Amino acid sequence: MSRLVVVSNRVPVPTPGTPPAGGLAVALSGAMKARGGLWFGWSGRTLPPDAGEPRAAELTESEGVTYAVVDLSERDLDDYYAGFSNRMLWPLFHYRMDLTEFTRVNLAGYHRVNRLFSRLLAPQIAADDAIWVHDYHLIPLAAELRSIGCKNRMGFFLHIPFPPPDILTVLPNHADVVRSLAAYDVVGFQTPIDVENFETYVRREKIGRRLPDGRFVVHGRTVRVEAYPVGIETQTFADVAAASERNALVRRTKESLGDRKLIIGVDRLDYSKGIAERIQAFETFLLLDPEWRGRCTYLQITPKSRGEVPEYAAMEREVAGLAGRINGTFSELDWTPLRYVNRTVGRNALAGLYRYARVGLVTPLRDGMNLVAKEFVAAQDPENPGVLLLSRFAGAASELDGALLTNPYDVDGTAGSIARALDMPLEERKDRWSSMFERILEYDVAWWCRSFLDALENEEAAPPQAG
Ligand code: G6P
Repeated sequence: MSRLVVVSNRVPVPTPGTPPAGGLAVALSGAMKARGGLWFGWSGRTLPPDAGEPRAAELTESEGVTYAVVDLSERDLDDYYAGFSNRMLWPLFHYRMDLTEFTRVNLAGYHRVNRLFSRLLAPQIAADDAIWVHDYHLIPLAAELRSIGCKNRMGFFLHIPFPPPDILTVLPNHADVVRSLAAYDVVGFQTPIDVENFETYVRREKIGRRLPDGRFVVHGRTVRVEAYPVGIETQTFADVAAASERNALVRRTKESLGDRKLIIGVDRLDYSKGIAERIQAFETFLLLDPEWRGRCTYLQITPKSRGEVPEYAAMEREVAGLAGRINGTFSELDWTPLRYVNRTVGRNALAGLYRYARVGLVTPLRDGMNLVAKEFVAAQDPENPGVLLLSRFAGAASELDGALLTNPYDVDGTAGSIARALDMPLEERKDRWSSMFERILEYDVAWWCRSFLDALENEEAAPPQAG
């Protein structure tokens, strides 16, 4: 088994006194601990002005894993992270052409940082390491590494959707983006729909074909392209949820709710999550089902995110306005319909709140997977499970067949589904929940990590890129 090198924009360097990282980080660092490994990426810090380009990554060791991080300049972050990654790739890949902003300056910054990463990573790589690159910030990394002679096996996993060709081709440099995907040996997407979109693109643009064994030839290179849906640490999360009844925050929240049913939503403050549409659906539900007024409370936990990107600041104002309107309209002296919280809540408390909730609202307009949906399912009490209301446009919908599927653009329909979820009899809740729980127990994050790495391990080390 070769050593594993993971590369991602953010690196969860463990620091004493901070809570443990999420399931994904635990799974990846577990794989690295088992075979020896290095995790490379941005430090989360900005270089002081006039510092010049970093010459080497900063290394720290923890439990057999080396963390190698790089500080980035303000300008690099503006162009690469806030710019091309989060104002072009993120909205476009989430089907939001209307929110994209393409500039050559941002694109140049994207390539500059990928080149910088490849230069600083190369000296850390041994001949037979397997390299696993994560997410849209780093699509060109393999091509950059190959251009300086790196022949290692390389895999790429896209955590967000891969859009259909009519959307992808809005990107002026779409051909380069797909060409750089072909520099990997394995490309992983979240769902079969993403693989289908990739296949259609390859066919339409006439840049390759699918082989009978399922692999693709793209620009003359053979690449395995498959769906590996990301999972969570299902059993651990279920145990944490069961234990967190004793959590002080969960207890206080329960007491404050009295005998009202809890409806919960947890998302980063991001336009892809459909938070505004969801609040409108809840408002419609209160209008159409007045008997539920005073008998349920909707808790929306929404930590702020990417504040440096203007579209996020705009949606923050929009959602805050809607939250204020609904509470102004429907609140009673002793009842607030919506509790809107712009803060991160710790994993233990969240698990306990999911377990207590009767309904989980996970209604993104588009999402690669959505792990909140899986965590909500894992956290439920098997004897009295809550109902998951899930957008058909979340990757998780292709696995969680027991959810009440909803179209978040259909505000009235979603309002009706909220009522149906609140009224659902226990037997139906149990049936729906158990099929979902079985699924996520088998396809957990360890399965995801193992199956991607097996695929990578089994591919031939890459010959130099053709064409
Ligand atoms: C999504 C992306 C991740 C990203 C995370 C948080 O889940 O797929 O790559 O790290 O959002 O966003 P941020 O911009 O704060 O890293």
